[in-house]
Amino acid sequence: MLTYTTYSEAGGVGKTTLASNLADAHAQHGRDVLAIDLDPQNGSLTYLLGVDAPREDSDADNIARHIIDRPKGDFDELIKKTPYGFDLVPSHNMLENLGDLLGQAESIAEDLSEEFNRWDRLREVLLNTSVPDEYDTIIVDPPATAGPHLYNAIGATRSLVVPLEPTGKGLQSIMGLRDVVQGFEDTVGVTVGVLAVVPNGVGRTTDQQQYLERLCELGYDAPVAIGDRSSLFEGCWDVQRTAFSYVDEVRNRKRDHEMETLEDLHTLARHLEEVSA
Ligand SMILES: Nc1ncnc2c1ncn2[C@@H]1O[C@H](COP(=O)(O)OP(=O)(O)OP(=O)(O)O)[C@@H](O)[C@H]1O
Ligand SMILES: [Mg+2]
Repeated sequence: MLTYTTYSEAGGVGKTTLASNLADAHAQHGRDVLAIDLDPQNGSLTYLLGVDAPREDSDADNIARHIIDRPKGDFDELIKKTPYGFDLVPSHNMLENLGDLLGQAESIAEDLSEEFNRWDRLREVLLNTSVPDEYDTIIVDPPATAGPHLYNAIGATRSLVVPLEPTGKGLQSIMGLRDVVQGFEDTVGVTVGVLAVVPNGVGRTTDQQQYLERLCELGYDAPVAIGDRSSLFEGCWDVQRTAFSYVDEVRNRKRDHEMETLEDLHTLARHLEEVSA
């Protein structure tokens, strides 16, 4: 089973972009992939994949209700098919209040002398469904801020894939990554692995090499650096597609540098599949 959370300390570094394209690449490799969108904001994985889900309908069953142990229906019914051969549990506005809702659920459980571990809820939800039988790959995409979404994502996946902003600031954040991971381990109470660090949006090939070497020196797996492909990735957000589908269906001619980026995404996905084998 391959399970990971896309994580970066900073926002806007490419977590959701990576999650969508890694899910697509794993599915192309024949894996059964479930992506879980834990980001309450509008521009989340659910939007990028063009999945129609009632995020504003406060009566609808949704992932937050399951995490706080107040489901309105079967978890299986939350799972949506995407056109890319993988499935998605979509986001919902109720995720905005996840911290408060978890706090309330915990108090109620305490009054009833019931077990309730607020950072272990997503894992428990998944274990009690057909997900472990039906999927071999789970990718969780939370918001960047440390809090209930990220901790539940980590509790359920125990592994991180970390996109890195290709700047001095980005490298600096990686220097502190071990301490950050230690903090997650202390908070959530599990061991957390960093499966890969991925410089994302790097300008020149020589810079890409330098980043990869530096990350290897720091002891991290850094199988690929993803180039600066604003036109491709902005296009994906504009027409709500994965990059593979964008190049296939929207571009009228193949561009070498974009094909190279798709190949890098395959290489990264294969690396993750191998480390979990
Ligand atoms: N390799 C890349 N080259 C150029 N632009 C990129 C690249 N990867 C992602 N982007 C762009 O960066 C922006 C942020 O990407 P994305 O939303 O995936 O980041 P995020 O880390 O999920 O953000 P948030 O913290 O808000 O969840 C998007 O506009 C996306 O198109
Ligand atoms: Mg995101």
